[in-house]
Amino acid sequence: MSKRIIIDVDNVCFSYPDGHEVLKGLSCRIEEGEKVALIGPNGAGKSTFMSHLNGVQLPVSGRIAVDGIEVRKDTLKQIRRKVGIVFQDPDDQLFCPTVFDDVAFGPLNLGLPPEEIEARVREALAVVGLQGFEARSSFHLSFGERKRLALATVLSYQPEILVFDEPSTNMDPLNRRNLISWLKETDRTVLLCTHDLDIALEVCDRCLLLVDGKIAADGPAGDILYNRKLLESNKLELPLALMTHELLHNILHHQDMEEGERLIIGRFLHAHRHAHGPDSDHHVHVHTHDLDHAHLHEEVDDAHFKEIRDKEQRELKGE
Ligand SMILES: Nc1ncnc2c1ncn2[C@@H]1O[C@H](COP(=O)(O)OP(=O)(O)OP(=O)(O)O)[C@@H](O)[C@H]1O
Ligand SMILES: [Mg+2]
Repeated sequence: MSKRIIIDVDNVCFSYPDGHEVLKGLSCRIEEGEKVALIGPNGAGKSTFMSHLNGVQLPVSGRIAVDGIEVRKDTLKQIRRKVGIVFQDPDDQLFCPTVFDDVAFGPLNLGLPPEEIEARVREALAVVGLQGFEARSSFHLSFGERKRLALATVLSYQPEILVFDEPSTNMDPLNRRNLISWLKETDRTVLLCTHDLDIALEVCDRCLLLVDGKIAADGPAGDILYNRKLLESNKLELPLALMTHELLHNILHHQDMEEGERLIIGRFLHAHRHAHGPDSDHHVHVHTHDLDHAHLHEEVDDAHFKEIRDKEQRELKGE
């Protein structure tokens, strides 16, 4: 049974007041609970599109509905309860004198009791690693800290749909890793705009490629993010994890080396054979993490390499 369409974007066109045409007939549908990556080159219109999802911008033509409610001036209050956007620039999001006030702002507007507000602030600050920062001035934090704080201001009011515009830029590796873990665990609908295609590969099931104001490709993340030709023709490149995999794969098969060394690289390449769900195909993931989710770790024996080498030999011979 297919799930509920929670974001429905139909043929949206948008130009800025200076006449610059950015969205040129953008359509897409996102189901409840999906985790969708939005990728595309600089200036493609990703941030502009995202700002339409809670009505910061309204379409010049076309229609956007969130959970069946059309995004219009008179529905903005309802829409903003459902959609939380973490903007690319944290300074668009922070306006209170202290960290606590910024993170409490959303829950306060929901009319929650003080204990619940405090609990939500505590929880959101813990997710972004800013515990103990409550009394600090938001404006005096470093850029990376402000990015994390902006994230917390949205997490604290727990919207059904989370829209992230470049959440991981300027984050140190530990906080980036924590963000990835959180994104993987959440059951909310997530739209994640990022140039960090490794995050997209790790977190998202589906990927939308936005080019020149339109969706140029829409499909499983495992197809689009593995498609070198499609990515490179749109000023993008394969995720680093896949490039590493490809590099090691080439070394493995096209260089003379001791069988022992071949086995070490082979083991590394296959260290993260990985499947989403017990019944799905497993595929190679090369990334470092703290093994916080199920993997199919396999011992790779020499028969496996023989199989790959035989296949390559057959391909070389054009069979
Ligand atoms: N306020 C504005 N007025 C006029 N043009 C704008 C305005 N904001 C953005 N643009 C233009 O709209 C286009 C799309 O910008 P947008 O920020 O949506 O791109 P993006 O895909 O998010 O890019 P990036 O990868 O750099 O974040 C760009 O050409 C940009 O210069
Ligand atoms: Mg942008």
